[in-house]
Amino acid sequence: MAFLRSAFMLAATILAIPLASASGMTVNLTTPTVWMRGTNVNETWSSGVGPYNSGSFNLLLVNTNDTGVTQYTLATNVPAYYDIIHFTVPTDVPVSSNYTLQAVNLTNYGDIYDQSGTFSID
Ligand SMILES: *[C@@H]1O[C@H](CO)[C@@H](O)[C@H](O)[C@H]1NC(C)=O
Ligand SMILES: *[C@@H]1O[C@H](CO)[C@@H](O)[C@H](O)[C@H]1NC(C)=O
Ligand SMILES: *[C@@H]1O[C@H](CO)[C@@H](O)[C@H](O)[C@H]1NC(C)=O
Ligand SMILES: *[C@@H]1O[C@H](CO)[C@@H](O)[C@H](O)[C@H]1NC(C)=O
Ligand SMILES: *[C@@H]1O[C@H](CO)[C@@H](O)[C@H](O)[C@H]1NC(C)=O
Repeated sequence: MAFLRSAFMLAATILAIPLASASGMTVNLTTPTVWMRGTNVNETWSSGVGPYNSGSFNLLLVNTNDTGVTQYTLATNVPAYYDIIHFTVPTDVPVSSNYTLQAVNLTNYGDIYDQSGTFSID
């Protein structure tokens, strides 16, 4: 009996992991194809929780190259349940083929909720 109960609890623990991160925030960013500087973009994502109670994130554009990692803030305090945001790609970011998007904690940018695949900005 004790064995059965601990086996059940282990299964329940494994099932719970994908449903909630430590923050309760689930964001799955869509990876863009190619963005053009100065053009309008609709970035979309799916969020597993919500509406209204699923928290907010900051959306960062991240360029990784020989110089290092450079973060640009695209949007702040984005409600996760929106599932889409409109913005203009900044004109002062360098052309690069190694950008990613990150949805991060509002105050702790090291707390990354999701990261897109790599894409280009021309
Ligand atoms: C964001 O980070 C701060 C500082 O680490 C933490 O206190 C807060 O709970 C985090 N927010 C979420 C929604 O995880
Ligand atoms: C995020 O969405 C993509 C495309 O719909 C899907 O393939 C992937 O499994 C999702 N990732 C998570 C962690 O849900
Ligand atoms: C973004 O969404 C708006 C409103 O739904 C639409 O009018 C516009 O064409 C979209 N832009 C792109 C680049 O998809
Ligand atoms: C591209 O970015 C990834 C991280 O997103 C990094 O591991 C890789 O080294 C970068 N490539 C170049 C050529 O800088
Ligand atoms: C690396 O990226 C940064 C900012 O995104 C840029 O200022 C720098 O010139 C780039 N370095 C190279 C070697 O392309």
